[in-house]
Amino acid sequence: MAEIVISGGKTLSGEITVQGAKNSVLPVLAGTLLCYGESIIHNCPNISDVDTSFLILEGLGCKCKKQDSTVIVNSSAVNGYTIPDDLMRQMRSSVMFLGAIIGRTGKAVISSPGGCELGPRPIDLHLSALKKMGVTITEEHGLLCCETKNGLRGADIHLNFPSVGATENIILAAATAKGETFIHNAAREPEISDLADFLNSMGAKISGCGSDTIYISGVDKLYPTTHTIIPDRIVAATYIAAAAVTGSKITLKNTMPSHMVSCLSLFRESGCDIKALGRTLTVSAPKRLNRVPTVRSLVYPGFPTDAGPLVVAMLSLSSGTCVFVENIFENRFRYVGELNRLGTKIKTEGKIAVIEGVQSLSGANCKCTDLRGGAALVTAALAANGETQISDISHILRGYEDIVSNLSSIGADIKIV
Ligand code: UD1
Repeated sequence: MAEIVISGGKTLSGEITVQGAKNSVLPVLAGTLLCYGESIIHNCPNISDVDTSFLILEGLGCKCKKQDSTVIVNSSAVNGYTIPDDLMRQMRSSVMFLGAIIGRTGKAVISSPGGCELGPRPIDLHLSALKKMGVTITEEHGLLCCETKNGLRGADIHLNFPSVGATENIILAAATAKGETFIHNAAREPEISDLADFLNSMGAKISGCGSDTIYISGVDKLYPTTHTIIPDRIVAATYIAAAAVTGSKITLKNTMPSHMVSCLSLFRESGCDIKALGRTLTVSAPKRLNRVPTVRSLVYPGFPTDAGPLVVAMLSLSSGTCVFVENIFENRFRYVGELNRLGTKIKTEGKIAVIEGVQSLSGANCKCTDLRGGAALVTAALAANGETQISDISHILRGYEDIVSNLSSIGADIKIV
């Protein structure tokens, strides 16, 4: 099995172009099911979650082509409605395809997504919304069988938590449903606006994205379109954290600073000088990072839970004690035990991590427990003295395109062996 090996302590310098957003491209790929013909998606990241999405689409009868960062999905001949269990297990976000499959075929069969590395991740909000839209759902032998007798119909839906995935699934289902749908207490993440921009360019009528009430007027038909995925704000935050822990100055191209306000503010509080010019960020880190007393993950526009592991790694090298409160997922600190092997001093209790800043870290063998936890290990290893070997890197490859060559191109001593 491949491992990432890092000899830490190198100062980084140079420029990285940030990939397209994983959390945008997955629902957009699901959305291609809603038209007949070729959808062209630019700025698609080359990551294994996209490969898994292709397998799902191809299993449903689509033809997928990839050239560099452009993807073409031909959905003319969709003839399936099932996502196989192994693909559901590989990528929990497969549940995002549910609304679109039902929208296209009137039915869908998926296996129940159980727990995952971030703790139990129920899909009750997705299912109760779909039921309101006319879907009958039965659970047999671990399979969720969804069917609609007379097609999807619009509904007035109130989410008791602004779930990103549920909001996207409802938008996908409602785009071609009969009548109007309101989503109250909708998630406001930029990736949701990106999905709506994509669907609107196919002829959908979706408004209010970015606010907590989204309105969708169902249309009879959607048409193939061309769309460019927004930059990945969590990947950008990862490279900023890498610069921060190594006291480096780097430039990031293809970013969307307006999507990163809470992250940028935290990096600045830690002492990093960050200049935003259009879509370019220039980051200059201090020799020693400031202590940031408390960071809380929240729904957008609050501090993103996905950037939590990166700043926990970063604050491990700050000049004091910091508290990170994880408010979105129940079990997001599994990576902390691995991080502590590198010499971080982090204690966790429930949703709280107490991070005691240390002067230096030292390389060790460690193992990825999840995607962003893996990126946190890479971040810490870049600063650690000596060699770090990181195993189970398939988690990292789910969401990061070329992370090893990107970091290597700006001076990190990093390789895959
Ligand atoms: C998406 C992102 C993920 C990010 C998360 C929160 C994608 C592919 N993934 O995940 O990277 O960390 O948003 O920003 O876009 N919940 C329920 N019932 C539901 C749905 C969710 O209780 O039906 C709970 C979850 O268990 C979790 C919280 O709501 O505690 C947030 O989940 P949600 O916003 O749905 O995250 P995802 O869409 O799974």
